[in-house]
Amino acid sequence: MLRVGIAGFGFMGRMHFRQWKAVKGAQIVAICDANPNIKEDTKRAVGNIKGAEGEIDFGGIEVYRDLDEMLAKARLDALSLTLPTYLHAECSEKALSHGVNVLCEKPMALTAAECNRMIRAARKSDKVLQIGHCVRFWPEYARAKEIVDSSQYGRVVAGMFQRLGSAPGWSVDNWFVDEARSGGVALDLHIHDTDYVQYLLGMPKAVCSHGAKKPGGQLIHIVTEYEYGDDKVIVAEGGWGMSPTFGFEMSFNIILEKATLVYDCTRSPAFRVCPGDGQAFTPQVAAGDGYSQEIEHFVKTVRGEPVPQVLTLEQSRDSVRLVEAERKSVDTHKKVAIK
Ligand SMILES: NC(=O)c1ccc[n+]([C@@H]2O[C@H](COP(=O)([O-])OP(=O)(O)OC[C@H]3O[C@@H](n4cnc5c(N)ncnc54)[C@H](O)[C@@H]3O)[C@@H](O)[C@H]2O)c1
Repeated sequence: MLRVGIAGFGFMGRMHFRQWKAVKGAQIVAICDANPNIKEDTKRAVGNIKGAEGEIDFGGIEVYRDLDEMLAKARLDALSLTLPTYLHAECSEKALSHGVNVLCEKPMALTAAECNRMIRAARKSDKVLQIGHCVRFWPEYARAKEIVDSSQYGRVVAGMFQRLGSAPGWSVDNWFVDEARSGGVALDLHIHDTDYVQYLLGMPKAVCSHGAKKPGGQLIHIVTEYEYGDDKVIVAEGGWGMSPTFGFEMSFNIILEKATLVYDCTRSPAFRVCPGDGQAFTPQVAAGDGYSQEIEHFVKTVRGEPVPQVLTLEQSRDSVRLVEAERKSVDTHKKVAIK
């Protein structure tokens, strides 16, 4: 039995809780959250993606306020690290040094330098550290990657990726809107598409980004072109500036030589392959969502079972590195080369 703990029991902690409940051979034995009212507060619906809401049964689960105490007492095999981003590096390192396998939410950390520390800690511990880049596992995004890799419709001509919503307003002390603690819209939201672009096409040679800022200087909307030194056009857009009534939308259009792949989470069917000849169709995709798929991947890796290589720690670090370059490009109004 895999003894599982969850550190940070806000929106994503509860999302991971629901996913872990469905994993055979795993048991959530401990939860840690600094909020003393966490049991009451979990009754509130939070977040922008369905799956974390509903009553939580804390039966048989030890609740801690402090990660060090949980690590010392709970004899964990695995930890979902769903704490605010500014705590990812320090807390991953602590858990790994206690011999605990860690599934840490994206972004890996606030800076590439912190990510490098986490990579070193993982190598030293010989335990699994996986970053929650759920979009790589999201069934439609994963299927699109397979279709592109198969080359059955030719090479990528252009790709547009979009992720839009209003600024997260559910965190206890609004840490999301503090760029020093969350990295803001670029690192928190837009990185999903930055990372998927990297997954699909590898590291670009340069990024050129434009951003809209609030009067205080906070970035709320970013558009990036990823340059590959050829004639394809790859653009991703992420925004927190939408009105709250807009909700949340993620989408892509991938134009191949002989087909267009279209995904829009607000449409039905959400995913279509539109071939140059013949009818548009919706391909079979894996069951569940990116969260259930990433946890399955993590559990198999921990158990030493074979898994396809979906992501590495270096790639997760490189997505943070790309976002750093994107923010530099926004601030300097210049293209930034990726070394
Ligand atoms: N993969 C995704 O789709 C996705 C979506 C949303 C958020 N995230 C990421 O998940 C992470 C958490 O985001 P969230 O939306 O759950 O935030 P949240 O604010 O809802 O939850 C964070 C929780 O951590 C607790 N906490 C804060 N400091 C603590 C400490 N020192 N010790 C113990 N508990 C502490 C807070 O009380 C809170 O309950 C972030 O890194 C965010 O970027 C990922």
